[in-house]
Amino acid sequence: DMGGHDTYMHKEIHEQADAVDRALRGRIDDRFSTVHLGGLNLDARDARAVRRVKILGCGTSYHAGQIGAQMIEELARIPADAEPASEFRYRNPVVDPDTLYIAVSQSGETYDVLAAVQELKRKGARVLGLVNVVGSAIARETDGGIYVHAGPEVCVVSTKCFTNMVVSFGLLALHLGRTRDLSVADGKRIIEGLRKLPGQIEEILANEEQIEKLAGEYADAKSMMFIGRVRGYPVAREASLKLKEVSYIHAEAYPASELKHGPLALIEPAMPTVAIVPDDELLEKNRAALEEIKARSGRILAVAHQEQEKADHTIVVPKNEDELDPILMGIPLQLFAYYTAKAMGRDIDKPRNLAKSVTVE
Ligand code: M6R
Repeated sequence: DMGGHDTYMHKEIHEQADAVDRALRGRIDDRFSTVHLGGLNLDARDARAVRRVKILGCGTSYHAGQIGAQMIEELARIPADAEPASEFRYRNPVVDPDTLYIAVSQSGETYDVLAAVQELKRKGARVLGLVNVVGSAIARETDGGIYVHAGPEVCVVSTKCFTNMVVSFGLLALHLGRTRDLSVADGKRIIEGLRKLPGQIEEILANEEQIEKLAGEYADAKSMMFIGRVRGYPVAREASLKLKEVSYIHAEAYPASELKHGPLALIEPAMPTVAIVPDDELLEKNRAALEEIKARSGRILAVAHQEQEKADHTIVVPKNEDELDPILMGIPLQLFAYYTAKAMGRDIDKPRNLAKSVTVE
């Protein structure tokens, strides 16, 4: 039942405020400025013993993991990174007992992720799951974890589950941080930020008409560039994947800092750029990248916290805490992908050549 929406993608994009609300419900502990994650199976001593975090997933879940790794580094100061599970399992990885491994999956059935979990377990590692589907294979094989509570996701293209995964990583980062050096004040600040998310998501979705119009303006592009820096880079990667999957427009994502090392050669009026420009300590650097693109007559669509003078268009999103900004900045670009695909008459819920869960190698 699509409840008045023309596609599941549209419906699921609009379910995100409620979905995030569900992910937060019952987990926040105001007294100790932390969160409780029931199924984690990691006591305070275990949490303090973690030396590294390695996050494994595929596609959108891998992108969520990239944002998660940054949140864990920022809030818990534990070195963390994400890698496609499909690559990890084929490279005879060094499995380290002081590393906490986290497998991320919407379906909980993606074969490459499951195989990575099994390989890790065989080598004696501790593996947690960050999974949407309750009781799925990955949820069963892991030693504990976090359910992301996005609810059923039907569209092949993941939207609300991505958002809830990133929120869940925020909760985990806060939890790990508070067992280590994150201050009470910072814990409070992050909790306040988390609580603002559902309302801010509603604000973004209320801007749908502007985004629909913009999608019409860029739908003639053969190819698009997505750029971001540090917190914005995985957001750019995920937005680029969304556009590819539903519209079949070629898109690539680069760190803004890498532009002058090659991809700048592609910039011309027929190659528009979508830039993620959060109002954080890198704002001036990002603005300089916009200037470089403008100097090559590139068209720019910015997603930012305030109107960007160098951009042709800006989608303004509400500001949260710096660490949590990536949760919100991709949401308008889900709608952008949706409206671009719609203008092109694509089969939005079932893009060609793709399946909702990839249970084969
Ligand atoms: O079910 P999973 O999260 O493990 O699926 C992983 C990827 O196959 C999935 O995210 C894929 O990239 C989606 N089509 C993204 O929209």
